Amino acid sequence: VQIRRRDDADYRVLVGEGLLADPLAGLPDPPRRVLLVVDANLPRPTIEPIIRRLDQTNVRWGVSILAANEHDKSLATLERVLAEAGRLRLERGDAVLTLGGGIVCDVGGLAAALYRRGVRVIQGPTTLLAMVDAAVGGKTAANLLVPADALSSDKHRLVKNLVGAFHQPCRVLCDTATLRTLPMREFRAGLAECFKHGLIAGAQGDARLLAWTQQHLDRILAQHPATLAEIIARNIAVKARVVAKDPHELSPAPDGGRMMLNLGHTFAHAIEPLAGLSWLSPGQSLQIGPLKHGEAVGLGLLCAARTAAALKLAPASLAQQIEQLLTRTGLPTHLRGLPDSRQVFTRMLDDKKVAGGSLRLILPLPGGRARVVSNPPERVVLAAIDSLREPGASA
Ligand SMILES: NC(=O)c1ccc[n+]([C@@H]2O[C@H](COP(=O)([O-])OP(=O)(O)OC[C@H]3O[C@@H](n4cnc5c(N)ncnc54)[C@H](O)[C@@H]3O)[C@@H](O)[C@H]2O)c1
Repeated sequence: VQIRRRDDADYRVLVGEGLLADPLAGLPDPPRRVLLVVDANLPRPTIEPIIRRLDQTNVRWGVSILAANEHDKSLATLERVLAEAGRLRLERGDAVLTLGGGIVCDVGGLAAALYRRGVRVIQGPTTLLAMVDAAVGGKTAANLLVPADALSSDKHRLVKNLVGAFHQPCRVLCDTATLRTLPMREFRAGLAECFKHGLIAGAQGDARLLAWTQQHLDRILAQHPATLAEIIARNIAVKARVVAKDPHELSPAPDGGRMMLNLGHTFAHAIEPLAGLSWLSPGQSLQIGPLKHGEAVGLGLLCAARTAAALKLAPASLAQQIEQLLTRTGLPTHLRGLPDSRQVFTRMLDDKKVAGGSLRLILPLPGGRARVVSNPPERVVLAAIDSLREPGASA
């Protein structure tokens, strides 16, 4: 996939097996030093060939190992990565190479944006979510622990992605071989973002993406190499087209511009941190929360489609199609322990997409398009949240 940057310097996203074996191959003006920012859960066989290759080509390297959790997606971790870059004496022409999921891509990318006011970053995503989403588009971030203010009762709030920068990568390497060690639950969660892209793909020149995903879902879940490479490449193309039209999320277009990538996310962000949730896993055993981000996004897509149906913007069959996709994938469609829907609604109002106190939702329309809806009727949103309650299960 060829991606156009705002500064007109294109970058390439490569998708395939074994790409990380030679991560600098074909890069114009290759770096002399590379800082590897590595996910602590990646197995040694994923990392060692990369280091061997850097040694063979006389590239000096250093490593910063990151624990992939939202608590450690912090400024303290960022400082550790920057210090490692300093120790390696990284220069302007050098590069950061991230190897990991979205957390590592975000923090490693932010370090590259800040160090010496910007060095190159090569993103090496190793989760499905990071391949189709986090590694592409140039958003980098860390979380921030914010002290209490007059509006919050909590002592501190961990606000996700509050600190960040737009910093486009010089290359993205989606090595599908890395997905073999990814826990299946993480893989499934990543598919929720693919369903989101499918819901907006019509306006991005791939009207068949959702139907194709549905048709090939069994092969995708079995990680059939060619099918896997195709779904990743097509999803990246959808995200890249949205980002190219509105790189800094400033478009006032009725479809939301880049904001349309937040389809389902206002619901998801309100549900994701809730304590005490449980649901039935694919084997019908009870799974206890917290939800993974992608699992919450799947539920958010369902709520958004049900809201769109209630507002007569989309047929009810769209929500049914999403529910079927989630069920076949083994993602949750119903929750136990969901608090009062008004409580979830209040959390949605706190979401960063609130403009001037009004709730703005991105809703799916037929034909793979989206629309921003401001101030949807509260009862419609409450009903969508309520629809997630498992029938017969008490809260
Ligand atoms: N910048 C963006 O545009 C953007 C977009 C979407 C999400 N994000 C961010 O991405 C993060 C979520 O990313 P994620 O879902 O990849 O989660 P993650 O980075 O937490 O990774 C998920 C888990 O998989 C492990 N892992 C990663 N690759 C592995 C592999 N190949 N084998 C074995 N284990 C592996 C990690 O250690 C972690 O435990 C969030 O912080 C979110 O804010 C950013």
